[in-house]
Formats: sequence, structure tokens, C-alpha cells
Amino acid sequence: MQFDDVVLGRRSIRGFLKKPVPKDLIREVLALAMRAPTSLNTQPWNFHVVGGAVLDRIRAGNVQRNLAGVPDSREFRMGPPLGGVHRERQIGIAKQLFAAMGIAREDTAARQDWVLRGFRQFDAPVSIVVTYDRALQGSDIAPFDCGGVVNCLVNAAWSRGLGCVINSQGIMQSPVVRAEAGIPDDQVIQTCVAMGWPDDSFPANAVVSTRKSVDEAAVFRGFDD
Ligand SMILES: Cc1cc2nc3c(=O)[nH]c(=O)nc-3n(C[C@H](O)[C@H](O)[C@H](O)COP(=O)(O)O)c2cc1C
Repeated sequence: MQFDDVVLGRRSIRGFLKKPVPKDLIREVLALAMRAPTSLNTQPWNFHVVGGAVLDRIRAGNVQRNLAGVPDSREFRMGPPLGGVHRERQIGIAKQLFAAMGIAREDTAARQDWVLRGFRQFDAPVSIVVTYDRALQGSDIAPFDCGGVVNCLVNAAWSRGLGCVINSQGIMQSPVVRAEAGIPDDQVIQTCVAMGWPDDSFPANAVVSTRKSVDEAAVFRGFDD
């Protein structure tokens, strides 16, 4: 695949085939992703690749705590609730996904089930929990570097036919993830990525999200025209 095909073709995948992903292929994808640049070449990231019974226990623990109303324990600051254009964009993608899945606005059971899918890591065969070294906690640079590598990861995976969704929901109940994945105390959990072979019959997988235009996002100064 050419670069443009990967970047323009990639989209978040939230439904997966029940087909294992070879460990060597995951290693290949990680090696590509880790070519991402980092501040001072610190490479603060670590990847905890979980599947099988370990991932099933994480799914179960996440769902159980969510249904019990255990508060979110993400290991990073969320900031204030979204408003304005950001909230509009959040609603926009939710509407696209719910329309694709045929979930009506008033169908609270189906909406709750959709939320739980996120806590179940979208039933993917693999979840990659991304952490960074706690020695770097307190600076915003290490989370920034994790963002860089995760973007490379989802695109590298796509170039090999694998689908991913970056999944903040999956690490909301961080004690479960930390315990089951055996994440040491000297690492901070940043996010996780659900990965597997895309199920083309899963309607939400066809959703193409929108982007604001370059003219809205970019300002040019000091150019002749
Ligand atoms: C930091 C981060 C966290 C995300 N968490 C979730 C999540 O918890 N659940 C989900 O369904 N999608 C999640 N996403 C996927 C975004 O919704 C998705 O990337 C966005 O809507 C754009 O769609 P696209 O990836 O198909 O281009 C997350 C993406 C990022 C970058």
C-alpha cells in the first residue's frame, strides 16, 4: 500500500473476526510504529500485548466495575467536559456510528450495549496497552510521544490488513488492566488499542469520520500568495 492509501483508507474498526492475529505480525507492526519520532529520542513507550484468557479477564473486570458504577480511574487528566464545536464533533461521530448500527436515540438498552462493547475492548482478539515510563510523569511530552507512536501503530496495522480502534474506554478501569496485564508500578497507562482482522459485515466498520478542512485548521503567514 502507498502512504496515501493507508492514511486515507484507515478508519477505526470496532468489529473483528474471531481469527487470531499472529504474534510475529504484531511484532512487525510494533517495529514499524516505533519509528515514530520522540522528544530527545526518549522513546518512553512500552506495549503490553494482551489476548486470550488475560484479555477476557480484563473485559470481564471492566464490564463488572462499569455496571457497578465504579468511577473512572484513568491515569491522566481529562480536563473539563467538552463544549462548543468539540462537543458537536463528538455527537457527530456518535450519530454516524449509531445510524450505521441501527441504534435509535431512545433505545437506551442498545446504547448501553454499545458502551459496554468499548469496555469489552470491542471483543477484539488483541489489545495493546500503551504505557510510558513513570520517571517522565508530570511532563506533557511523554503522553504526546505516546500519541505519535499510537498513530503510527494504527496506520502500520492497517497497511498489513489489520484494523484497530484506539480505546480510552478500555483503560478507564485502570486497576483491572494493571493487575491482569501485570503492568509494573514504574509505568503509567496512557491508552489501549483494540486490534484484529476487520469484520466487513459489521456496519460501524464502514463509517468514515469527517475532518475539518485545512483552511479551518491552518494559518499561513509570510507566504507570497
Ligand atoms: C485518544 C483516543 C481515544 C479514543 N477512545 C475511543 C473510545 O473509547 N471508544 C471509541 O469507540 N473510539 C475511541 N477513539 C476513536 C475515535 O472515536 C476516532 O479515532 C475518531 O472518531 C475518528 O475516527 P477514525 O479513527 O475512524 O478516523 C479514540 C481515539 C483516540 C485518538
